[in-house]
Amino acid sequence: MEGADRFQMLIPEDRIQARIAEMGRQITQDFQGRDLVVVGVLKGAIFFLTDLVRRIDLPLAMDFLGLSSYGDATESSGVVRITQDLSRPIVDQDVLVVEDIVDTGLTLAFLRENLLARRPRSLRICTLLHKPSNTLREVPLDYVGFTIENRFVVGYGLDYEQRYRNLPYIGYLPLPQAPAG
Ligand code: IMP
Ligand code: MG
Repeated sequence: MEGADRFQMLIPEDRIQARIAEMGRQITQDFQGRDLVVVGVLKGAIFFLTDLVRRIDLPLAMDFLGLSSYGDATESSGVVRITQDLSRPIVDQDVLVVEDIVDTGLTLAFLRENLLARRPRSLRICTLLHKPSNTLREVPLDYVGFTIENRFVVGYGLDYEQRYRNLPYIGYLPLPQAPAG
């Protein structure tokens, strides 16, 4: 793929899939006897969601929500807008939100409040990646795939200016070292 050779490997495909299998088993246990609504945040979480639901052995429905945060390509502004809403109400449902990455937490804090106002029976949050060093808002994360350092990552759904989502692994762009002092 054009440009893909510029990326350093952070998490290879087999590690991603192994971790997703574990998360699927955990979610299956935790929601025994329940009927789940899995809510994916477009577009980045699509890849993770489709792999994850195939590892969850429960009756479930899927729905999707589009969010857009104003700001530049690599920083979240915290001003979030719903660009595409869920297709059905979630009142009295057990909802599992699936995100690609939690960075500052601002996007998820907004989403959580918005969804809680719709009165689900329960709301849990699952993210493939978490970058705790940038936290501005603490949001309870029930399932975290990998905790990573403060690097801008792409691949497996994550984009830089809408590109590189289709890399099968998670990589990062090596930045030039800042001069010492
Ligand atoms: P937050 O509001 O700062 O937590 O950012 C959440 C959103 O910013 C994610 O859903 C991503 O769309 C985007 N984002 C944050 N960090 C990265 C990254 O390292 N690579 C690609 N997108 C990112
Ligand atoms: Mg996102």
